[in-house]
Amino acid sequence: MQNLSSKNLIMPYFVIEGRNKKEPVANMPGISRLTVDNLLKEVSESKQLGVSKALLFGVCPRHYKNELANYAYAKNNIVSRAVAELKRKIKGLSVITDVCLCAYTSHGHCAILDKKNKIDGKKTLEALSKIALSHAASGADWVAPSAMAKKQVLAIREALDKNGFSNVKIMGYSAKFASNFYGPFRDAADSAPKFGDRKAYQLDYSDAKKALKEIGDDIREGADMVMVKPALSYLDIVKEAKQKFNYPLAAYNVSGEYVLVKMGAGIGLWQEKKIVFEITASIKRAGADYIITYHAKDIARWIKQKNYLT
Ligand code: PBG
Repeated sequence: MQNLSSKNLIMPYFVIEGRNKKEPVANMPGISRLTVDNLLKEVSESKQLGVSKALLFGVCPRHYKNELANYAYAKNNIVSRAVAELKRKIKGLSVITDVCLCAYTSHGHCAILDKKNKIDGKKTLEALSKIALSHAASGADWVAPSAMAKKQVLAIREALDKNGFSNVKIMGYSAKFASNFYGPFRDAADSAPKFGDRKAYQLDYSDAKKALKEIGDDIREGADMVMVKPALSYLDIVKEAKQKFNYPLAAYNVSGEYVLVKMGAGIGLWQEKKIVFEITASIKRAGADYIITYHAKDIARWIKQKNYLT
């Protein structure tokens, strides 16, 4: 356990429009959707405990959703406003923004679709690039494209460089599987697809080879860090990726994995703290440099109190 540090943790947040609101996410005990004012409080508490990286997901009001996901890159969109405030008020904080379309499209897919509901690759890359630029302009340190659109890292890297944001880094959701573990997140972000599933763009969980190829592609396209997601059912991929590429690597301990822990603890099956440390240690052992986890603030507190073994 000695080598697990809060520096390795990234805490995800859901940002909503409005003021002084804190909406508990139905199936994620302990996680709320926050307006920017409350987000500031939360992030600075976590920062004081030692979590210096925040991953932001914007929640789009229903009436702003449309086929083109305009709200995602509108001037002063919710994520851009949140980034600007966080960077202004919390020194030493690294802000990572999720770059995707599913929370903003009327159909809930991570892409712009054509009339036949097929992915329009060009328009999707244009929209993702605009989102990344809007976040970069507000001061995001990292953008994290999660749409699994082909060549998304390359397109975003080019757009950032062309617009004077060469310093903004990219965390690629490189090996993102079409997983059943994302259910609770889709409630939180209001991003469930209205029809079909995401198998056309997310990876088949039986295919390790393809996953490793995607990671290699993202590195070549210019990603500064790559990611495997979810974490627990995919530790083999985490390990292989680290061994094969020896490149900065994150693993995302996703919403469904978080809920399993909480539910088990809730019915007395195990002690939350102990199981969280076991899980986190396993992800680190497999080779992840960074762990994106909804437990981040708790872990940091436990580390600080030095009571994680009791
Ligand atoms: C959106 C996105 C998803 C997650 C992160 N970004 C869900 C999805 O692909 O439907 C899941 C995160 C989690 O479950 O905690 N592209």
